[in-house]
Amino acid sequence: MRQLPQVIQEERRLTGISHQAAYKSDMALIMTCSTSFFSLLLLLAFALPAAAEDRELVDKGRYIFQLANCYACHTDVENDGADLAGGRALETDFGTFYTPNITPDQATGIGAWTDEQFITALTRGTAPDGRHYYPSFPYLSYRDMTEEDMLALKAYLFSQPAVSEPNKPHVLAWYLSQPTLVLWKYLNDWLGAGTAESTSRGDYLINTLGHCNECHTPRNRLGMLQMQHRLQGNESLSAPDISPTPAGIGNWSDEELTDLFRYGALPDGDYVADHMGEVVDYSTSQWSDEDLIEAIRYLRPKKN
Ligand code: HEC
Ligand code: HEC
Repeated sequence: MRQLPQVIQEERRLTGISHQAAYKSDMALIMTCSTSFFSLLLLLAFALPAAAEDRELVDKGRYIFQLANCYACHTDVENDGADLAGGRALETDFGTFYTPNITPDQATGIGAWTDEQFITALTRGTAPDGRHYYPSFPYLSYRDMTEEDMLALKAYLFSQPAVSEPNKPHVLAWYLSQPTLVLWKYLNDWLGAGTAESTSRGDYLINTLGHCNECHTPRNRLGMLQMQHRLQGNESLSAPDISPTPAGIGNWSDEELTDLFRYGALPDGDYVADHMGEVVDYSTSQWSDEDLIEAIRYLRPKKN
């Protein structure tokens, strides 16, 4: 028979238990319980704070995702497509773009991407294989996102269900080849709309995350944003002038702007439709009160 360890023998002496078999099974139970109790403690000590940190990062990422409205373009809501599995058609003057799958699926989504590859896509508009993206993916706005925000965004995306859904090829005008795109990106940067660090939270919300210029700023014939006419409207998208002038939103009160961003309600009692309806549904209606205040402050005339 195996010797009981010293401590147990000692305990046994103290408690005076004599029935060895019963005692042994009791001890086995206690030992198992205490071992699992200690494992649990260890788990609590190490895993829980890590899990809480992960959850915090994912929550932060979810909010960035809402501020930047990644959902609307990457989900084919109209055809009951799975969340973030892409396939939504974006009709433009240059052809039809089909958004890709950005779920963490390894084969058809972005599940195999590194942090570096994700950041490169959002800031340089290039894919892991070096392919250049069309600016229908608004990376020219997103490229000023902070690294911290991009990593949180990636953590959120990677916490979502993976969906196997192959990407659809775009149907574009013949001249939109990769070399044309490289030239376009180069010209666009050269002509001025380069990167710029945000000067305030409102600036960051409107120009970077909310990418409001992408629809509300007119474009030249090459499809480049005319930043000297910032937020003065884009007729071909039916996006009105929202500059701080009487022609824009200069005469709107803060309450009217808040009602629009929260509920999509226009001052005349009507509701915004189409693209802005989606912006309100998936994005601005989710913005925090503080962020709405900062965004509205930014849309007001600049005081120098
Ligand atoms: C206005 C529509 C639109 C919005 C908003 C948008 N995307 Fe996209 N995205 C696209 C299109 C279109 C492409 C494909 C571009 C191409 O193939 O050249 C794309 C491509 C991508 C890719 C590359 C995927 C691949 O397989 O190569 C990633 C990653 C991505 N988007 C992430 C995001 C994230 C994250 C957000 C929110 C911060 C976002 N997108 C918001 C339209 C959009
Ligand atoms: C995908 C394109 C798109 C994006 C992105 C977008 N908008 Fe709009 N916006 C529109 C369109 C289209 C309308 C007109 C909708 C209507 O009247 O039904 C509109 C209407 C508005 C109006 C009402 C103006 C008026 O005179 O009626 C405001 C204010 C506005 N947008 C602000 C913003 C802000 C701020 C952002 C960025 C957070 C933004 N929009 C992003 C397309 C867009």
